[in-house]
Amino acid sequence: MMNVLGIETSCDETSVAVINNGKLSSNIIASQDFHKDFGGVVPELSSRAHLQLIVPLLKQAIAEAELNLKDIDVISATAGPGLIGALLVGLTFAKGLSLSIGKPFIPVNHIEGHIYSGFLMDDKPEFPYLCLVVSGGHTLLLYVESDVKFYKLGTTIDDAAGEAFDKVSKMIGLGYPGGPLIQKNAEIGDENKIDFPIAKLKTDYDFSFSGVKTSVLRYIEKTYNNQPVPKEDLQDIAASFQKSVIGALVKNVEKALQNYKVKSISVVGGVAANKYLGEKLKTISKKYNKKLIIPGIQFCGDNAAMIAYRGSKLYEQGLRYELTYNAFPRFHSEFIATEMNI
Ligand code: KG4
Ligand code: ZN
Repeated sequence: MMNVLGIETSCDETSVAVINNGKLSSNIIASQDFHKDFGGVVPELSSRAHLQLIVPLLKQAIAEAELNLKDIDVISATAGPGLIGALLVGLTFAKGLSLSIGKPFIPVNHIEGHIYSGFLMDDKPEFPYLCLVVSGGHTLLLYVESDVKFYKLGTTIDDAAGEAFDKVSKMIGLGYPGGPLIQKNAEIGDENKIDFPIAKLKTDYDFSFSGVKTSVLRYIEKTYNNQPVPKEDLQDIAASFQKSVIGALVKNVEKALQNYKVKSISVVGGVAANKYLGEKLKTISKKYNKKLIIPGIQFCGDNAAMIAYRGSKLYEQGLRYELTYNAFPRFHSEFIATEMNI
């Protein structure tokens, strides 16, 4: 019986989870909803909220797993990338806990955590597989060969997919968080109403979302002359924008399916919660006869279960870390599984 604790505080979700031999025992997530009043995450307020929440959430996660603190065998926490102040709350807390109960501390890369969220489902990805990582800060298409070999096929050359949803949502007056609001409005809109073209890149699997964001801006400037977008037009803009961004993601996944032999496809990160993306991927996974794994909604956004899962893998691989290990705000290549070429 191996109980691995996971702690996630990289952005605006405070989360603590326990997994036992790869199976989820608890996964408590507290979303800091108050950021919506500011139109985006306020780093200082996020750190303070993590500080207030971390101890009660730990107690809740341990209680829900029907354990005591002494039953925890490994303590893992997100070390980066993310907001530095926010990361330091969870990471420092994890180190203190490790010192006090005398159990190993494992720092986890947040993106690796997302990649592993597919393994929290009953139906798991099978190696080798294609993994589309789409979050607020990252857009990556990976060929995942094994637990220690990930290869980057493509990434964004400008905005991340989730970032594009958030920025466009703000631009058209829907607010924050952009992804779910755009999706909701798009459901009743006409996706063919407006053409928001996606930039064509010379590289095979890269993405660019800054152009589509600008074309939405030009469209609303031209059509509404700097006045607010009328409510009745929001749905069509949301649907047309969503079609364009999701179309670009799915197109590259399909291209990769034609060129790489894989068994499964997995989509992870906050944008993996997008139903339209899910439907499009379902269609191509059927066409190419591949297993598709989309994590449940509680594992798409930021959560500690995925951190605990990845932490347990690193521990099983025999990796051990000093308590001097530091938080890192940006993507950190050395930290990713050894052979990832990012
Ligand atoms: O992974 P995540 O929770 O945090 C980061 O690590 O970035 O991803 C958050 C991102 C936000 O940009 C949010 O707008 C987007 O995921 N998102 C969505 C949906 N739900 C969340 N984007 C599109 N459709 C959704 N349903
Ligand atoms: Zn994330």
